Amino acid sequence: MTKHLWSGRFADAPDADVFRFQSSFVFDRRLFEDDVNGSLAWAEALKAVGVLTADESEAVSTALQDILKEGQLDPAFISGPDEDVHAFVERKLVDRVGEAGKRLHTGRSRNDQVALDLRLYVRRRTREIQRSLLGLVSVLAEQAASANGTLMPAYTHLRRAQPMLVAHFFLAHAEGFRRDYARFDNVRDQADAMPLGSGAVTGSSYPIDTEALASRLGFSKVVANSLDATADRDFVADFLHACALTMIHLSRFSEDVIVFSSEEFGFFELSDSVTTGSSLMPQKKNPDPLELVRGKSGRVIGRSAGWLASMKGLPSGYNKDLQEDKEALFDAEDTVLASTAAVTTVARTLVVLGARTESAASGLLLATEVADYLVSCGMAFRDAHTLVGGMVRDLLTSGRDFESLSMTEWKAFSDLFGDDIQIRITAQAAVNTRQTAQSTNPVAVENALSYIIAWLEDARVESLDG
Ligand code: ARG
Repeated sequence: MTKHLWSGRFADAPDADVFRFQSSFVFDRRLFEDDVNGSLAWAEALKAVGVLTADESEAVSTALQDILKEGQLDPAFISGPDEDVHAFVERKLVDRVGEAGKRLHTGRSRNDQVALDLRLYVRRRTREIQRSLLGLVSVLAEQAASANGTLMPAYTHLRRAQPMLVAHFFLAHAEGFRRDYARFDNVRDQADAMPLGSGAVTGSSYPIDTEALASRLGFSKVVANSLDATADRDFVADFLHACALTMIHLSRFSEDVIVFSSEEFGFFELSDSVTTGSSLMPQKKNPDPLELVRGKSGRVIGRSAGWLASMKGLPSGYNKDLQEDKEALFDAEDTVLASTAAVTTVARTLVVLGARTESAASGLLLATEVADYLVSCGMAFRDAHTLVGGMVRDLLTSGRDFESLSMTEWKAFSDLFGDDIQIRITAQAAVNTRQTAQSTNPVAVENALSYIIAWLEDARVESLDG
């Protein structure tokens, strides 16, 4: 009969299927590195309180380091009949050092151990996600820079609204990803509390220096309450929420690119290397990766909502339901990383078709500029709006636009239109007249781009630590 960490109390062996059902080793093996690092720190703490002698602690540490190395070199090493990664590491340790290995679990429970492992994991993996977000933001900044002064229409209700710079479009999407970056900083803060010393639920009976443990493991503080800490997975919910919003931003960017690269818009050309053909229709060039990202956003939103539902009815203290946190977290992480990488490649290889975007950026979408012109001559905006609305109606009937109006025709609509009207009503003039820092004014966009480039530099340095 296989021995489990808790076998002593049981007369019968576990049912094989039920044991497999409740075990987590197939997925929590991902916590291997964090589990060993946590145990290395715990061995030190036990030495400090005299549970392990200096020799025992030395033997345990050496064996744990060997185990860590072996697992890093050969992932197949991390396998076996064990219930979870904690049992696996303990078995390997006892195999190597016997008695001293059996003492390592003194004063510790898998409940505070898994809470620690997961916090360590989240703290290092959020960095990885942030680095991938930086890659994407930098590609968007490069696209903004190379679009230079090219114009395109901005849409509201997916109807042409006003002219803007193509750079403004790319920088708009960069903003969402910058917020995601900050959100992962917050996730790391939420995971920043060291739970060892909580034991199974009420704390540890050894005078463990938890502050020292915390700083050794890279935490700035210790959890406040053992009953809370062994069952708190709020940081997982925060992580999943940050992942879900990142996916939403990836999905919205994908949707824009899908639409703008369609035959109907023809604003962007997708690289052949990131598209797929049809088995039947020879002309097709489909944006599959972007569609998949849009689809996968639903999956990550589901992970987030699902985890909140798993937590909501739990009584206090550890409950096995909490084991469900891992698959949600790992799946969301994998999906965000893979989706960010795919979108980054698509964005990097995207070609802006400037002739198309510019021709779509002029025409009746200059109506706001005409109204503003009248306002600059003293007319109230509401009256100007009505007058220009009437002009648009006329122009639509005759299939013309503002740019084709002769001076006499302008004057027929209002005496206020002066000789400068024809040069004032262009897409370029429209963006030039924007005055605010967040606007599509070319100078403002240039500043926004410099700001993002500086932010990227700072964030790159910051993301290297930890
Ligand atoms: N695999 C478990 C989990 O992920 C580890 C903690 C087990 N604790 C227990 N009391 N059964 O939550």
